[in-house]
Amino acid sequence: MSSSSTTVCILIFLQISHVLTAGRFAIIPPENPIVGFLGKEVILPCQLTTSSIPESTSMQVQWILDKSSEKIDVKSYYGGNRPETQDNRYQGRAELSRIDLSKGNMSLILKKTHLSDQGNYTCMVFLGDWYEEVVVELVLAAKGTEPTIALVDCHCWGIGLTCSSNSWYPKPKAFWLDSEGKVRSKQSDTTITETKTGNFSVSSSITTESGIDHEVSCKIINELLELESESRILISDALYPATSPWLAPFLIILLIFICLLVGAGYKVRQSYQKISECEKQKNEVQADRNHVMEAIETEKCTGQANVWGLEHRLGNLCNELEVRRAQEYAVAVTLDSYYKHPEISISEDKERASLQTLPPEKEETALGTQIFVGKEGYVAGKHYWEVEVGERLDWELGVLTQAERDKLQEEKVVKSFQEGCWALKSSQGKFFSSPCEKEIEKKPHLSYSVIGLLLDQEK
Ligand SMILES: *[C@@H]1O[C@H](CO)[C@@H](O)[C@H](O)[C@H]1NC(C)=O
Ligand SMILES: *[C@@H]1O[C@H](CO)[C@@H](O)[C@H](O)[C@H]1NC(C)=O
Ligand SMILES: *[C@@H]1O[C@H](CO)[C@@H](O)[C@H](O)[C@H]1NC(C)=O
Repeated sequence: MSSSSTTVCILIFLQISHVLTAGRFAIIPPENPIVGFLGKEVILPCQLTTSSIPESTSMQVQWILDKSSEKIDVKSYYGGNRPETQDNRYQGRAELSRIDLSKGNMSLILKKTHLSDQGNYTCMVFLGDWYEEVVVELVLAAKGTEPTIALVDCHCWGIGLTCSSNSWYPKPKAFWLDSEGKVRSKQSDTTITETKTGNFSVSSSITTESGIDHEVSCKIINELLELESESRILISDALYPATSPWLAPFLIILLIFICLLVGAGYKVRQSYQKISECEKQKNEVQADRNHVMEAIETEKCTGQANVWGLEHRLGNLCNELEVRRAQEYAVAVTLDSYYKHPEISISEDKERASLQTLPPEKEETALGTQIFVGKEGYVAGKHYWEVEVGERLDWELGVLTQAERDKLQEEKVVKSFQEGCWALKSSQGKFFSSPCEKEIEKKPHLSYSVIGLLLDQEK
């Protein structure tokens, strides 16, 4: 029983002893997190409430960076008897103010900060048997370069601008503002890229509107630092094509150029039309010529035909005239019943002759040429008569001398006439003159059913 009460007493004592010591020192709790500038110096505060520490009190201060994977000894101070220790990564970058340590200022001065320096630092302070620690979170940030605005291109409707800035941390925000400082509602294209060292570059582009954007600014904000960078550009109206002083001459030149172009186009078109018209006319003329040639050719043919026709008709007319003339000398011929071949019979009007079949007893007398003659005889002048031969192909028509006629009367049968006979002879449709037996040319394909005979004793 007594041993257990002793134990309790000791515990109470130890607790009281600690409280007593704690009452002597205390670390002022830091404002967390501490925001430092990237690449710059930052002070991680670790300040005791007391302003002086008795020299007799042994002192030990350790700054440890608590990374998830390791605990890095950023800076350790063990009093005057023992050298300070430090991780290589903080060599020459992390310091404690020696003078200030005795005044209770255990703050760490961290120079040339890296992004990797960010994290929770523990400040551990040992004073005699007193110990306390605080955690200081370091957050780094960087305000990047002043934005650079560049004019990249010039459209008819506006001017293309880009804004660029580097070395921002953490990721910033970029805006384009109008002349009144309000965020432009018009579309902008912003890209923020992380560099290989981990900071951010900003690039943004817009197209200004002529007549509206006379002044624009590019603003980049680091929300952590509550810092911003802004660049402003004033756009002279002269830069806008719509109001530019060289626009008018340009437009005039453009207009003239277009006019010239149109004019040239028109001229070309016109001359082309002219050419094609010429071509057309040429073709027409050619066609006409061909027509005319054809017409002439056909005319020639028809003319020839006409000539032939005319010649033919003329010939016919001449013939007809000749016949008509001859007909002026027409005489009536009556056949002589006494001067004929026995096989021929003469009609009652003495104008027709026809063949008749003889009775067998008279056949012997019927040898020789079947001939008959007219009663009339002429000594002088012209005399014309016609003989209808029908479709017969073999006949002989002519005149005899009185002597031959008498001979015919005597002999009744004539073998052939030698002299004293002039005749036209048809043999199988071909004409011959008798007695010379010379063929007389005859119009082809013409049949003669009536033969006119003209006896001209004047020639
Ligand atoms: C502690 O030391 C740092 C670095 O020298 C200094 O910036 C800071 O002001 C000091 N704190 C006080 C309370 O004096
Ligand atoms: C530091 O500690 C705080 C509080 O415990 C925590 O929220 C934060 O994430 C820590 N920071 C890092 C970098 O670990
Ligand atoms: C940001 O990154 C660029 C390129 O990596 C580097 O040159 C520059 O020093 C960095 N800026 C800071 C503040 O670390």
